Amino acid sequence: MLLFSGTSNQPLAEKIAEELKISLASSEIVRFADGEVRVRLLDDVKDEHMVVVQSLSQPGDSNLMELCQFAEIGKRKKAKKITAVIPYLAYARQHRAHREGETIAVKLVANFLKTAGFNEVMLLDLHEEEALNYFKIPTLHLSAVETFSKYIDEHRDDFGGDDLIIVAPDRGRQKAAENLASALEVNSATVEKTRPLDQTDTVKECQLIGDVKNKEVIIYDDMISTGSTMLMAASCCLSQGAFRANLMATHGVFSHLEKNFWQNSAVEKIFVTDSVLVAENKRFEKLEIISIAPLIARNLLNFV
Ligand code: R5P
Repeated sequence: MLLFSGTSNQPLAEKIAEELKISLASSEIVRFADGEVRVRLLDDVKDEHMVVVQSLSQPGDSNLMELCQFAEIGKRKKAKKITAVIPYLAYARQHRAHREGETIAVKLVANFLKTAGFNEVMLLDLHEEEALNYFKIPTLHLSAVETFSKYIDEHRDDFGGDDLIIVAPDRGRQKAAENLASALEVNSATVEKTRPLDQTDTVKECQLIGDVKNKEVIIYDDMISTGSTMLMAASCCLSQGAFRANLMATHGVFSHLEKNFWQNSAVEKIFVTDSVLVAENKRFEKLEIISIAPLIARNLLNFV
């Protein structure tokens, strides 16, 4: 296997390589003055299984182009198989036309990957499984539940012991929250949120279904973008008597990341995986990053 890294999340690619006890394959990636990217492979991929790790985090469009260039070269150079490992998939939230006339952007992303030459794709905690229907090549959709539940179990006393409850910040995440709760053998609750369809970053109001009184709460979501969903859910839980509220999300996108904003928020701690790279200078004390590399490495070995 030749494991290549795109530029969006090299530390994760290095950790995956370390888990697999291999070195990263060599490539040269340059961006021209106008922002265009050019990828060059420095290792011979003929008859090799080529794997490319690239998160489609900001700038998602450009990172997608970079990823697709790897496959374009790999295909021409006759790689045996080309696998995309996309720990964070851009446009996953646009899996459905919510209103008349809207695009299904994730379908385009799926088509790009196939057209570029990828033979299979590994994905992690998509917003909705429905997005998988648009992929016309084999996919493996991983879940961070196992990674998070292991972490919580190892730090159970820090999470209120038996007083822990897992909360979904909206109906769409109820199943995922129930899965995490059942792995931990604790209860779950759900917050119902309302976000106007013509807005992208304001959650209007919420209501709690379940009892969080005196509980240590972990609010579990697929991603934190503006933070609006999570913070609304946290204030909902705290107003209903929760002892403390922690946030846990697979993808720490932090679109409006301001260290002090998060550090001074009412939440106890914020846990994300390293599916999206949070730059060193943007990290804050309350932020804990749990690596997803072992999960990806393990599944890469079985993904055929
Ligand atoms: C959408 O419903 C997702 O599950 C997340 O809750 C949402 O995308 C997070 O976005 P934000 O942080 O901007 O509220």
